[in-house]
Parts: sequence; structure tokens; C-alpha cells
Amino acid sequence: MTWLITGGAGYIGAHVVRALTEAGERAVVYDDLSTGLAARVPAGVELVRGSVLDAELLARTLAGYGITGVVHLAAKKRVGESVERPLHYYRENVEGLRVLLEAVVSAEVPSFVFSSSAAVYGMPDVDLVTEETPCQPVSPYGETKLAGEWLVRATGRAAGLATASLRYFNVAGAAAPDLADTGVSNLVPMVFERLTRGAAPRIFGDDYPTPDGTCVRDYIHVADLADAHVTVARALRSSPGTALTLNIGRGEGVSVREMIDHVNAVTGYDRAPTVTPRRPGDPARVVASATRIATELGWRARYDVPDMITSAWEGWIGRHPQAARS
Ligand code: WQD
Repeated sequence: MTWLITGGAGYIGAHVVRALTEAGERAVVYDDLSTGLAARVPAGVELVRGSVLDAELLARTLAGYGITGVVHLAAKKRVGESVERPLHYYRENVEGLRVLLEAVVSAEVPSFVFSSSAAVYGMPDVDLVTEETPCQPVSPYGETKLAGEWLVRATGRAAGLATASLRYFNVAGAAAPDLADTGVSNLVPMVFERLTRGAAPRIFGDDYPTPDGTCVRDYIHVADLADAHVTVARALRSSPGTALTLNIGRGEGVSVREMIDHVNAVTGYDRAPTVTPRRPGDPARVVASATRIATELGWRARYDVPDMITSAWEGWIGRHPQAARS
């Protein structure tokens, strides 16, 4: 099959491209390079530079490359920014998806994988979040992902398209240093950034109802996440008309304090964190039930938190060599 990966020059998208091509699939990247990097697209993979709002370019690309499946990752993903700019988020994430789906249906592309998020659940009050846990997003970003899932499912049903919405939990790590996340908007890179400029890592609140008082999340290695896409892509190919909704996590909760301890151990900085007030909108605990994908597709994650932090750190010191501790 030939897969079009929208957002394939981004951090997660580039990992998906690599996993699909290593598994013997053909890949074409579609990316506007607003945050993606052309250097992340491997040799031998075509890069089409364009927006998912560009219906004509999409139609030409789907037909021109004989695309038989789409993995759609191109989206805006900053929760705080989505509160400031909801119209921008709805345009890019919902209207962009609608335009893409229209092109996909016209071109009769049979498989569609949608990058969703644990943000669809909002502040879940359960130990493990299953795919049946009610979705109550608390940010425009989460709303656009939930609306996207509805759009994907309804279109799949109407057009006989096999679809999957993958709800990513907290993604970290890198499969290779040059594929690492260059953004500094999630816990691991934020801790690296503080440590390497001589500042203490921050814990946003330690009075949550969790074992050590800090927020608990389900961290997943980006290489595992990418591998899950390969499994799902193959499952869609063998089941036309199917509609999957799957959590992609490890089913293991790790607290912010534990994460910072791991980062200190891996980097050798060993700097005690400081506790600051809670960050508005943070749920105490969001941990996936990873049972459905294991039961239905036989997939499970292989890497643990030290693997994630070690690989992310290799990427960080590749870009900031002075940060390395001997
Ligand atoms: C993790 C935990 C922070 C930095 C977000 C989106 C989610 C998904 C992943 C896209 C939280 C705490 C962080 C720091 C801290 N994105 N923290 N000190 O908020 O769980 O999820 O990114 O799909 O939709 O909401 O991830 O990495 O920002 O934070 O204490 O310096 O670390 O409060 O509890 P989050 P995060």
C-alpha cells in the first residue's frame, strides 16, 4: 500500500513514516512545514509541501501517488494556544480534516487513520480510562479531536471507508536522535531545558489526590506509538468498512515526581525540583486502559520510561552538546 502521512515531517509523524517504511509500506509525506522539518523526511520518501485546507493539492496528491491509505497527523496541538485561538484550532483541526476526508472519499482511498488524543477524555475520574469512558474535553484542542473522531466515523460509515481513531496518551522519547521532539512544551523537554540552564525543574502542584501528590500520566515511547500505527494500518487493510477507536498507552501511571527522578538519573544533573502552584486545567490522573488494542490487535508497548528519557536525552544533547555531563 502507499500511505499518505499528513504531518509526516513532525515529531510523531516522522516516526510513523519511519515505522511504515521499515515495515515495507510505501510512504508519501504531506506537510505544510509550519512546525515540521523537511530534514525529518527520510531519503526516498517524497515530501509534498501543502496545507490540509488545500483541496486541489490534496486531490492531485492522492491521485498522483496512487494513495491507498491516509494517516492524518497534521494538526495544531497546543492546549493553551487552543484556548486563546479556538477559531484557528477548529479551522486547522476540524475544517482541515473535513477537506481531507472529502478528497479521500472522492479518490476512493479505502483506509484512514486519525491521530486523536487522550485530551478527548478531559478530567476522567477513573483509575484506568477505557475507550468507553465518557469524552468530556476541557479545551478547544480536545474538542477538535473529539469532533474529528465523529467526522471520521460518520464519513467512514457513509463511504465504506475503514477508519481508526488513535487516542495518544503522553508521548515521549525518540527512535533516533535526529527524530527527537524539538518543541519544549511537554514535561520531559521542559525538565531538560531547566536543568541544562541551571534551573530547578518545576512540579506544577503537589497537592493532588495521588500517591505522591503530583499528577499521574501514562507515558508512551514514540517508537511504540509509531509501531501501533503499523499494526492498525494493517488491520484496516484486512477489514474494509471497520471503525476502530483505540487508546494508545501503556496502562501504567507515572507521577511527575517520578518522571523528574528518572530524568535526574538519566542526565546526571541530580537537581531537586521546586513545587509551584497547580497549572490550570491539569487532571490529577490520566492513565489508559491498554486492553482493547492488546485484545483486538495483539499489540502492546515494548519500551519503558527510562528508555523514553534516555532516547529523548540523546536527541537533546545532539542539539545542545554543551548540555552533556561527562
Ligand atoms: C505532564 C504533567 C503537568 C511540565 C498534554 C495535552 C495532551 C497531549 C499531551 C496532545 C502534567 C506536569 C509539566 C513541568 C510539571 N497533547 N508538568 N512541570 O498536560 O498531560 O498533556 O500533552 O495531544 O492533550 O494536554 O502533558 O507534558 O504538559 O504535562 O509538573 O515543567 O507534567 O502539570 O501534570 P499533559 P505535559
